[in-house]
Amino acid sequence: MLSTPPAAFSRKIVVESLSHAFDIDGRSVPVLTDVSLEVAQGEFLAIVGPSGCGKSTLLNIVSGLFPPTTGRVTVDGVPVEGINPRIGYMFARDALLPWRTSLANVAFGPELAGEPADRREARARDLLRLTGLAGFEGSYPSQLSQGMRQRVSLARTLARNPDILLMDEPFGALDAQTKLVLEEEFLRIWERDRKTVIFVTHDLFEAIAMADRVAVFSARPGRIKSLVALDLPRPRSVTAGRFGPRFQDLYDRLWDDLRYEVVAAG
Ligand SMILES: Nc1ncnc2c1ncn2[C@@H]1O[C@H](COP(=O)(O)OP(=O)(O)O)[C@@H](O)[C@H]1O
Ligand SMILES: [Mg+2]
Repeated sequence: MLSTPPAAFSRKIVVESLSHAFDIDGRSVPVLTDVSLEVAQGEFLAIVGPSGCGKSTLLNIVSGLFPPTTGRVTVDGVPVEGINPRIGYMFARDALLPWRTSLANVAFGPELAGEPADRREARARDLLRLTGLAGFEGSYPSQLSQGMRQRVSLARTLARNPDILLMDEPFGALDAQTKLVLEEEFLRIWERDRKTVIFVTHDLFEAIAMADRVAVFSARPGRIKSLVALDLPRPRSVTAGRFGPRFQDLYDRLWDDLRYEVVAAG
């Protein structure tokens, strides 16, 4: 029989009493207050909250871009200090290099890491196939639709085989139908290899459709207002459960909290 791993191992990301303030025009403006959070190995955590409540700031801190004013973050028990190559970070707007083809964009991270050309190209090809872009390896970003560019971004985020994915409204700039397609495909990819995910979104439907737990953040300065485990079955379809009674219950419960904070944020 397989023994379950000790609990300490399953705590992939631990955020402890984290607060952050930015200096704006010589004033210290608090944006996050006393956030404590654990994300288990292989868990999909979604974060929703009003605009400006510090969601991107939290991801930036977890990624190691800058340290919090107080508190700390550990990954695999090790304090985060600087950029961690085990973390993949994806944004709403693609940050593709316009002078590089899809293939060369996806292979860029591995190239910087010194991977041999044949290996990184084979891997980039596989990832472009996985994200539905076979045949577009030689296209430049300007030749692709926004949905396709986000597919390239996803492939690029996966290219160094990170074990944590930080996703900041990754599908937020897409039209509604393209967004559904990409959500569905990302969920299929995630359910296959179960990387640890923190997924920020302003779309509560998206959060409930994909995540294991949803955290609702308060208006700025952001703190965790509620944290709800979703007892929805997997594998999941982003559309199939959407009109079921359990989904509706979860939506109503979370929307109640979120709506209050969105109104409070003005
Ligand atoms: N580098 C920065 N310098 C100063 N203020 C910032 C900086 N980054 C974000 N902020 C401010 O901090 C607050 C939280 O921003 P952000 O984390 O982007 O919120 P969210 O992602 O939840 O919309 C906002 O008021 C924003 O203007
Ligand atoms: Mg943001």
